[in-house]
Amino acid sequence: MKPVRILFVCLGNICRSPLAEGVLRALATRQGLASQILVDSAGTGGWHVGDPPDRRSIAVARRHGIDISGLRGRKVAKADFDSFDLILGMDSENVKTLRQIAPAGLDGKIALFLAYAEDRDRDVPDPYYDGEEAFERLYQMLEAGCSSLLARLDERAS
Ligand code: 4NP
Repeated sequence: MKPVRILFVCLGNICRSPLAEGVLRALATRQGLASQILVDSAGTGGWHVGDPPDRRSIAVARRHGIDISGLRGRKVAKADFDSFDLILGMDSENVKTLRQIAPAGLDGKIALFLAYAEDRDRDVPDPYYDGEEAFERLYQMLEAGCSSLLARLDERAS
């Protein structure tokens, strides 16, 4: 079966979406589902293109046994709407921007991450201006969301 291609999108692609990418990949690997998903991340803004994730996201991932230090920031592109099956924005602002740039007919691939994963119309808040503790809360939110997302994808595949 072809893998489901998932793109996580936030504003800068250095805090939330690369952490979500690392968490989903790690959970899928641990559950033996690595061949069933393909995951990437991007930002709606271009300030951090080529940059590694924020050191606080790298650190919280590392504390949970996940290495995201090799990821590099990139900006979401029109071609992503062809290359991915699901484009999941971390917050409603990201979703709004994605809808503005989506080529005609492809905006059905866009959803708010936690709405898709957990049926909760809730943002993953931007932690950029917050302290270290916000990154642990971010991690917990992403881990719960990614775990639900995998279960949901499994449901839909069967
Ligand atoms: P992210 O957080 O969207 O979760 O990657 C941010 C990172 C950088 C900026 C904003 C949000 N920034 O303005 O540079």
